[in-house]
Amino acid sequence: MERAIKQRRTIRAYMPQLLVLDQVSQLLWAAQGITEDSGFKRAAPSAGALYPMDVYAVVGQDSVEQIEAGVYQYEPKGHSLSLVTKRDLRDSIARAALSQMWMAKAPINLVITAEYRRVAVKYGNRGIRYAMIEAGHIGQNLFLQAEALGLKAGIVGAFHDKELIEIMKIPRTHEPLLIISVGYAAAV
Ligand SMILES: Cc1cc2nc3c(=O)[nH]c(=O)nc-3n(C[C@H](O)[C@H](O)[C@H](O)COP(=O)(O)O)c2cc1C
Repeated sequence: MERAIKQRRTIRAYMPQLLVLDQVSQLLWAAQGITEDSGFKRAAPSAGALYPMDVYAVVGQDSVEQIEAGVYQYEPKGHSLSLVTKRDLRDSIARAALSQMWMAKAPINLVITAEYRRVAVKYGNRGIRYAMIEAGHIGQNLFLQAEALGLKAGIVGAFHDKELIEIMKIPRTHEPLLIISVGYAAAV
């Protein structure tokens, strides 16, 4: 654990090396997996256990073994992925992120979104703050899990929200808060 914290860095150069399904499964588990035996609580804490967050995986062409290029939504309950959009959208996503084109080289980009109404029912406007804090927890879990798998991650907060929603074809109520790119680091 200490090594993962010490070695964690935002990496902005990735190799075109395939990830295996187990690595992606482990990353998604660390982000939002259900960690409570016979329960519903997840890897990251959530105010009031209301879970306003979703994690979408933007997978590139020839990027993850056994997964076709596309956008997938992570379903914590079944620990599964459901297809949202087919196609390698990494270039478009990187362009929507103020043309940070290095992101398009990462085999996978994990988009963390919040649906504020799930927390607003209990906490009102303060729920927005809670969801943003939760995104940070998920991001750090992903960073540390990537390290533990011998992978590297990058964090991106600079992007056009609406463009991202349109490109990914996700519900308008799912507000993107963070993108975490993951892959094998390239020598720079
Ligand atoms: C909320 C947030 C948004 C960020 N957005 C970007 C971004 O859009 N592009 C980028 O290259 N780095 C981004 N970063 C990464 C920071 O630049 C990086 O964390 C900082 O330089 C410290 O480096 P380290 O993460 O390697 O320790 C972001 C970090 C955070 C926490």
